[in-house]
Formats: sequence, C-alpha cells, structure tokens
Amino acid sequence: MNVYKVISDNVKSKLMEIDDVADILPSDVAIETPKIRDFGDFSTNVAMMLARPLKKSPRDIAEMILPKISEIPFVEKVTVAGPGFINITLKNDFLMSPGKYNIVAEKPKSLTIDMDYGSYNIGKALHIGHLRTTVVGDTFNRIARALGHKTKSYNHMGDWGRPMGLIIAWILEYGMPKNADDINVIYPASTARAKEDKAWLEHALRVTFELQNGNAEYLKIYNEFAPMSLKQISDILVRLNILPFDENKGERLVAEYVPAVQKILDEKNLIVHDDGADVIPVKLDTDTAPMPPVMWRSSVGNQTYAAADLAAIYYRTTTDNPDDIVYFTDSRQNLHFTQVFRAAKMAGMDSANLQHIGFGTITGADGKPFKTRDGDVPSLHQMLDMVADSVRKRAEESGKKLSDETVEMIALAALKFNDLMHDVKSDYVFDVDSVTQFEGRTGPYILYTAVRLNAVTNKAADMGVVASADRVELEPAERNLLLRLMDFERVLENAFTRRATDLLANYTYDLAQDINTFYHHCPILRDDVVSDVRATRLYIVNMARETLLRAIDLMGLRVPESM
Ligand code: ARG
Repeated sequence: MNVYKVISDNVKSKLMEIDDVADILPSDVAIETPKIRDFGDFSTNVAMMLARPLKKSPRDIAEMILPKISEIPFVEKVTVAGPGFINITLKNDFLMSPGKYNIVAEKPKSLTIDMDYGSYNIGKALHIGHLRTTVVGDTFNRIARALGHKTKSYNHMGDWGRPMGLIIAWILEYGMPKNADDINVIYPASTARAKEDKAWLEHALRVTFELQNGNAEYLKIYNEFAPMSLKQISDILVRLNILPFDENKGERLVAEYVPAVQKILDEKNLIVHDDGADVIPVKLDTDTAPMPPVMWRSSVGNQTYAAADLAAIYYRTTTDNPDDIVYFTDSRQNLHFTQVFRAAKMAGMDSANLQHIGFGTITGADGKPFKTRDGDVPSLHQMLDMVADSVRKRAEESGKKLSDETVEMIALAALKFNDLMHDVKSDYVFDVDSVTQFEGRTGPYILYTAVRLNAVTNKAADMGVVASADRVELEPAERNLLLRLMDFERVLENAFTRRATDLLANYTYDLAQDINTFYHHCPILRDDVVSDVRATRLYIVNMARETLLRAIDLMGLRVPESM
C-alpha cells in the first residue's frame, strides 16, 4: 500500500463532497511528511491551494474542511497549524493492521521491460568499471519484478567486434592460453601492440571481418575462448549474488538481425556513404553540441558497435514487445545511446521507450578514477577481497571471531550497499575503510540490524511468546517505525519510476535507524515487560523484520547468522 496515495485519495474524495471545492481541486492533493511529527503524521497544504480560487483565507478553508477529513475512517485527529497547514494523525490500529480497513489500492499497470546491463566484453576481467551497471541493474530488475512488472535482463556481450579480432589475432600467433588465468591478458597485450604497430591493427580488423563473415578457423577459436571467459564472468557474478541474466545475447547473436535492419535503413534511405563507411546521419537542426553520424558499417566492412545495438533493438522490440528498454552503462556512453536512439527512431524501430541511464565514476579520494595502491584498476574480485580484508581487520580489532562465510557476506553488503546508496548519475568516492564501518550509512549496519531482529524473533519463539496486534497504545518510537514500514511500497514505486535504486538503499538505512531507536526505547523480551506489551512489540518486530529482509533481498545482500 502506498500510504501517501491512500491518504491523498481519501482526502480528495472527502473534499469532493464539498460543493464549491469540488470543481477546483488539484488532480493530486499533495501529502507530505512534516519534519517534526509532533503535530501529525502527515500534512497537506490543500487549504492554501484553495484559498485564492475561493477568495477566503487558508485558515478559514482549513477550518471548513477539517470535519470532512476527520470522517476518514483511519484518521484519528486533524488540526490546523500556522497559516493553514492541515495536520493529519492516523489511528494506531490502522498503523498496526492496515488490512482491517479494506483499502483497495489500485495496482499500477504491469509493464514489460527489457533491461540491458552488465553487457561485459569477452576476454576482459570484470573490474571496478562494471560494478555499478551490475549492482544497480540487478537491483533495478529485482524491484521491477517485486512490483509485478515483467522484465527480461540482457547481457549484451561485446564478443563480435574489434576486441574479439585483437584477441583472435593474438591467439593465432601465440596459441590458446593454457591457463584460464591468462585469458584476460591477451586483449590488453594485443591492444598495446596495435597502438604501436599499424600493420597489427589492420590484421586484427581483417580477422574481425573474416570472423563476422564465417571464417571457420576463427570461429573455432572463438568457440573455445568465449566459454572460458564467460565462465569467469559468471563466477564473479555468483560471488556478487547477481540474478542470472535471462539472455546472454550479445553482439554475436544479434548479428543475424543486422540484414533486417539494413533493409529498413535502405528503404528509408537513411544510409550515407562516407569515406568507405556506411553512416546514418542523426544530427538535428536544433543540436548545439556536435552530433556525429552513427557508424553503421566501418570502412573495412565490419559490423560496428552501433549496428549491434540497432540489431538488438530490432530483436527486442519484435520479440518481447517491451514498453521500455532501459540501458545501464557509465555516462561515457551517453553520446552513443543518443545517436543509436535517434537512428532507431528514424528507422521506426521505436515502439518501445528507449532509455539510457548513464552512471558517474567511482573515484579515489583525489577525485580520479579509483586505483589500487599499486596503481591498478581493481578487478571485482580484488574489490571484494579488499573489502573483506577490511571487515576482517575491524572484527579482529573488536575481538570478534567471524567465519570466512560471514566476512564474505559483510563485504558483499559493504560494497553493494555503498554503491546503491549513491545517486547513479553522480561520481562517488570509494573508501574501503568507511564502507565497512558497523555504524552509519553502511551495508554492515543494515546487516547488523537484520541479525539483531532475527535474534529477537528466534528467542521469542524459544520463549513461546506470541505476537498480537490487539493492543494499540503505542509509543512514539513504535509509531515512527510503523509509519516507516507503511512507506515501503511508495519507495519501491518511486525507485522504479525514477530508475533510482538509491531511494531503496537510503530508505533501508532510515528503516534500520528507526528499528534501532525502537529497540532502544521499547524492550521486548526483558523480564519487566508485561505480556500484552511484549506481544505488541513482537508483532512490530515481525513486520519490521519482514520489510527489512525484503529490502535486503532486493539489494541482493545476504544476511549472516550472527556478526
Ligand atoms: N560491452 C560494452 C562495454 O563494455 C557495454 C555494452 C552496453 N550495452 C549496449 N547495449 N551497448 O563498454
């Protein structure tokens, strides 16, 4: 239930009953949370909005509509504050068991969403640059599913372009790597050589061309090499607790749709020959920034990065008929997606809403892209190891003994939560020691709160305590926690519509804080707590635990037994 919407809808339908007001109501009555909840759980400025059209003072209008709002079954109290703010306090039994009030919340329409994230390159170890697309994409996918949308996650792998040609050219000369550890050194080595040696680059481009045109020997190398690389990729994804992709369909597998797109482009006369290459001009008169054409086919005749993307759009729209296709990559690809989306639109392949979410960079304290102490770009395995070392050190310092499995779970939470809590578009500074703190806005703090709730419910079960929602006298800390829990649905909806997974992460932190405040003020299983109070509190704990664990699951974290 989206409690803001429920209140807004109810207030609105009550106001509709007042003659003069009905005609001039705004489509949504804005409901807010007051900074200080002493005067009410929610507030609205609707009286101020109505003052001008009704030519009355906001205060008079507020007085006029108060009796109406107080008729809403779950409203305890309505008051006017200041110039005409209306404060609304909800009934405690509504906070405890909203289900009793039979509110029919309309379900948002279920959408079909194709998601493109991860989209790794074959022959390249996953590194820090892949963290955000992987973690945010995965959480966004989980949120969309939890809200009842139909998603399909695509790993649009880079496995058919120049990098693949560079890798195969290398293997032709030096043989297939003996050791799986060696597969990721080929691409950088071959690229470095191509920089110095023009003939090598031309050779690699030629190999790419022939690979794309069915050269059996190159295909054999591809077929041997790609699975080794994929295996490594899937190992780190498992370690990161990322849902498996619905389709590992990358540049190679969409190649088969290039001719269909070619046909459309030809029919619409969208291709221009430019210096041996085929390009699609996408510049508009209104552009102020440079807008180069889309490279459809390179001058050596190769399938390009953009062509693969257009073919993928063709495949996805014709196969899945999605409402949206959402791409998650870093913001250096903003221009690429602007170009591709324009070309898709010109080709009439824009039945889906095409959207690119461009991420900021993970930096060190100096504001430059994060590097290890040795100056390397860390792989995702290295990142998890670094974070795990910091967790282990912290635990040792505080005299805790944690199993390796627990350390790994804490490290995972530290790394992922820190990534999720930042606005995706901004850069953020990565500092190993701050992400592993057990206090503050961190993954370990979230896990710690969950572990604590699990311990309470386990102990309550051992003691035979039964939860009950019958008693409804509540302390402020209990009410605050219940109000927070009621807000979960709205947060998920906002995180989904705004493609903003940070809303979920930061909600989870606020929830954890409310839980710990509640826990501090409201003992549950202590001897001096009378049984009906205990039953109420256990009921609240159960609800809090359920929501916290759901949030944790949506972020793809794992909760240890103890920590
Ligand atoms: N493989 C690309 C890279 O590593 C990312 C692909 C993003 N997705 C896409 N459909 N272009 O940079």
